[in-house]
Amino acid sequence: MLVAPSLLSCDFADIKNEIKTVSSADMIHLDVMDGHFVPNISIGIPVVASIRKATDMVLDCHLMISDPEKYIPQFAKAGADIITFHAEATDDCDKLIDLIIECGAKPSVSIKPNTPAEAVFPYLDKLYMVLVMTVEPGFGGQKMIDACLDKVRAIKNEIKSRGLETVIQADGGINDATLLATVESGVDVAVLGSAVFAQSDRNAYIEKIQKM
Ligand code: DX5
Ligand code: ZN
Repeated sequence: MLVAPSLLSCDFADIKNEIKTVSSADMIHLDVMDGHFVPNISIGIPVVASIRKATDMVLDCHLMISDPEKYIPQFAKAGADIITFHAEATDDCDKLIDLIIECGAKPSVSIKPNTPAEAVFPYLDKLYMVLVMTVEPGFGGQKMIDACLDKVRAIKNEIKSRGLETVIQADGGINDATLLATVESGVDVAVLGSAVFAQSDRNAYIEKIQKM
């Protein structure tokens, strides 16, 4: 299992050092919220650019924003390696996937809990990753909606049956109580915010999950 700590739960005044405490992770998950697509505001382009200067780790940018096409080039330029937009935020996923590739990043699409798994099927062959939200996006520390793991299974089956290598990421409510079910559903990359940053030894916790 790959692990992507979400900096949403870190101390933003000390980001550089907080990143060092999760350096054994496979990528850093950056939650971008605009107060419109989701009812919360978090970080934006200048913060991603600063984080890019502070680390060589893979930056996985989760855009929970309206009009993602307006901002994708700027996030790519700021140094995002993987860019995830929400299927619910556009009526032309194909165009956004092409734009992300054109900008030199890896494309990924996310679906909220009420969006069916089939919504991503048409794009699987072009996508590096699918992000299945396991909570309603907007806030860390929520309880996982278990039914979302059924969508992971459905997407995994589709990926396998078509012989693709698309990676599945799950995000929201992943902790000791839900980790095993998450692994068993076929998730390749687990995003953990509050569960990781609550640990006294975060790297050791991450390494434990990587062995699952
Ligand atoms: C929620 C964000 C998540 C969040 C996860 O909208 O996309 O990445 O930080 O936090 P936890 O792991 O606490 O649910
Ligand atoms: Zn996220």
